[in-house]
Amino acid sequence: MTEKELVVLAKEAMEYAYSPYSKFKVGAAVLAKDGRVFTGCNVENASYGATNCAERTAIFKAVSEGYREFEAIAVVASSGDYASPCGICRQVLAEFMPDGKVILDSEEKGMVTYLVRELLPCGFSSKDIK
Ligand code: THU
Repeated sequence: MTEKELVVLAKEAMEYAYSPYSKFKVGAAVLAKDGRVFTGCNVENASYGATNCAERTAIFKAVSEGYREFEAIAVVASSGDYASPCGICRQVLAEFMPDGKVILDSEEKGMVTYLVRELLPCGFSSKDIK
């Protein structure tokens, strides 16, 4: 699975976004260490705080099916610009893919890649629970 292929799957997932409030669609595709891919979209709610981001939808789908280790996640948004993962999603990425890559794609600017550890330096983790 190439980074570009993962981006294509994230774009397909974005079409399922439920975002009547923000009108901002996000799609994600996460690559498990054994090569399996799980996709997700943002799912909003009239009680805004109940909204789930696309990244967490994809990861929670995977974890709920027994997958816990991931190599990379691609994220795309309907704005045509990059959608960088929010703070809560960064925390979830750090839990399940601390050495993983985050691939962002923008129609206008192309693809960029970050490491999860670059996006959440000094994050809280299981090591801090003693
Ligand atoms: N959103 C995501 O799904 N992922 C991100 O990385 C940033 C934000 C969603 C949440 C909400 O449905 C909408 O984008 C606007 O914040």
